[in-house]
Amino acid sequence: MSHQPRADALVLFGATGDLAKRKLFPALYGLERSAMLTFPVIGVARSEWTDDDFRLHAEESIRAGGDRVDDRVVRSLQDRMDLVQGDYADPATWSSLCDALDRHESTTAVFYMAIPPSMFPTVVEALAAHGLNDRGRIVVEKPFGRDLASARELNATLHAAFPEERIFRIDHYLGKESVEDLLVFRFSNTLLEPIWNRRYVRSVQITMSESIGVEGRGSFYDGVGAIRDVFQNHLLQVVTLLAMEPPVGPDAHFLHDEQAKVLAATEPIDPGLLVRGQYVGYRDEPGVDPDSTVETFAAARLVIDSWRWAGVPWSCRVGKGLKQAATEAVVEFHSPPRLLFDEAGGAPPGRNQVRFRLGKRDGVTFSVQAKTPGPHLDSQAVDLSVDFAAALGARQEAYERLLGDAIAGSTRRFARQDVVELTWGIVQPALDHPGEIHPYFRGSWGPSEAERVLGNGDHWFEPSD
Ligand code: NDP
Ligand code: BG6
Repeated sequence: MSHQPRADALVLFGATGDLAKRKLFPALYGLERSAMLTFPVIGVARSEWTDDDFRLHAEESIRAGGDRVDDRVVRSLQDRMDLVQGDYADPATWSSLCDALDRHESTTAVFYMAIPPSMFPTVVEALAAHGLNDRGRIVVEKPFGRDLASARELNATLHAAFPEERIFRIDHYLGKESVEDLLVFRFSNTLLEPIWNRRYVRSVQITMSESIGVEGRGSFYDGVGAIRDVFQNHLLQVVTLLAMEPPVGPDAHFLHDEQAKVLAATEPIDPGLLVRGQYVGYRDEPGVDPDSTVETFAAARLVIDSWRWAGVPWSCRVGKGLKQAATEAVVEFHSPPRLLFDEAGGAPPGRNQVRFRLGKRDGVTFSVQAKTPGPHLDSQAVDLSVDFAAALGARQEAYERLLGDAIAGSTRRFARQDVVELTWGIVQPALDHPGEIHPYFRGSWGPSEAERVLGNGDHWFEPSD
């Protein structure tokens, strides 16, 4: 079942934390502005804050995130907000939370786990012990486990208290309009589907690059690294949407079925086709082990052994401290069988490409050949490009959409258990056999060794994002 009753309360575990500050309060403000919030928002955290401290903190977070903030919207959001203060290990915290939910006559709450993963079992067990698991659904933040074994363990913990359809696993990439557009663009246009396969596609490259470093999250990041932080989740979700077969219908389970099929056909990463890098200076970041071998960059070739994709290399790279912030998927097509238009000689024409820009300035660019002006029959590359913000107007932020979905009870933009476990299975050899770590300078495109992931003498395409 993908649609469930609308929620009547939001309980925010980790209300004083970084995720709540940077993403969740601005998202709640957006939902309040669009009249999507009609119920109490109850924060739970350990800090000795009053309700007013909590409301003020939320307001500061909202103002820090946006320039045109409507005071009336902030006030009405604050009027909904209360804080239950206490440690999750203390029974008194749970009595106060139960009292608060009873006071509001809540029967269908959203329990949002914006807390360290080590606290997940404590909170889930306490929710069950107080019967709150029967009074709502749970939203779990990434990282969802550290490897396949711990992801399975966490799923077992969650399933002991909540059925699968009431577990909402957040991968905020699934909430991005640009990422969801991959699905819509592929399957609502007849133009692409006939050529979207091994007969026409020569290679696929996906780049998820950030120019920033670990930005004060060193102690978290050093226990995680790029493969666990973004490759296993955000990047592989993008791969599924680009590679999957058309879903039978729009319902969540049809979409998740197709994602699971594509992941089941994807071979576990070959450590020989994996390159890990670390930016110079990472070991000096606060919270990072001075001898750390944790990767801030990873590139790997994926092999999707299906009828559609056999033989097509899917080369993927992620990293921090790189030259440019971009999230792009480039699908490159084979060259035409004969080079007819080359009267002036020179370099052979580039191959056709479809470039999906999934980052800040999202859109799609088709790179095609057109006649070079002049007397000769020659061709040159031209871009047919659309910028979605210019063409379609502003869109909601990912967290606002995902919170809205969790409230509405729609699971489509959340990750299903089997999909998460399949993604861990794909990266597991990279975790077990990480190989050496190659240093790279900030502002570069990562270690030069990453070229060997591509094969065919290819080079990484420079993102245009
Ligand atoms: P923080 O460490 O900033 O916040 C943790 C929160 O949990 C705080 O509100 C803290 O309360 C509360 N908490 C921790 N232990 C207890 C306890 N025993 N009893 C009561 N409250 C407790 O973490 P983040 O906000 O950065 O991350 C939260 C989750 O979101 C994690 O799973 C993280 O991996 C995930 N995430 C975070 C992202 C980010 O950008 N920050 C991005 C994507 C995912 P207090 O401070 O009052 O003690
Ligand atoms: C988060 C990672 O999940 O995604 C961060 O933990 C990363 O390390 C972020 O910076 C990237 O998200 P976005 O939306 O900025 O591409």
